[in-house]
Amino acid sequence: MIQTVAWITSLFFMLMVAAVFGVVALKSKERKDYEPIKKKWYKARTFYGISLVVLMLVLTIYTLRELPYNQPVYGQGKDPTIVDVEALQFGWNISQTSFKVGEPIEFDVTSADVNHGFGIYDEDMNLIAQTQAMPEYVNKVYITFDEPGTYEVLCLEYCGLAHHLMIATLEVTE
Ligand code: CUA
Repeated sequence: MIQTVAWITSLFFMLMVAAVFGVVALKSKERKDYEPIKKKWYKARTFYGISLVVLMLVLTIYTLRELPYNQPVYGQGKDPTIVDVEALQFGWNISQTSFKVGEPIEFDVTSADVNHGFGIYDEDMNLIAQTQAMPEYVNKVYITFDEPGTYEVLCLEYCGLAHHLMIATLEVTE
């Protein structure tokens, strides 16, 4: 789907660019007084320049308001459930694996040996959250499950012969 949109959009803009070149080539023989054109387009340039700066400022402020993104709201009874996750060759130690729909959860992810990848997959095998599991670091993932079901934790980084066996499950109930 997104590929189709991308290539149609690209085609559209390629045709636009080609059309602009075509018009320029066709009109290149015409003679016109340069000063009025220059004046007109310098004005336009100033206008578009200022508009662009204003637009970018508004968009920047608007999109940065919520930094850092996707953080849980602490306090007021909304503290997340803290879950310790330790990756090791070849498995997972997860301090809690049963959760409720709508429960805010903070996974504190680390590794006992080498680098692993902590990835949570839903039942359709869509990756819904992930972070690196690194020795001597704790990486945090915040997630609130919207759907009940059995979620799988898979390792996302090749970490040795039994990398593919690093599987754990999380149960989410209503
Ligand atoms: Cu752990 Cu791959």
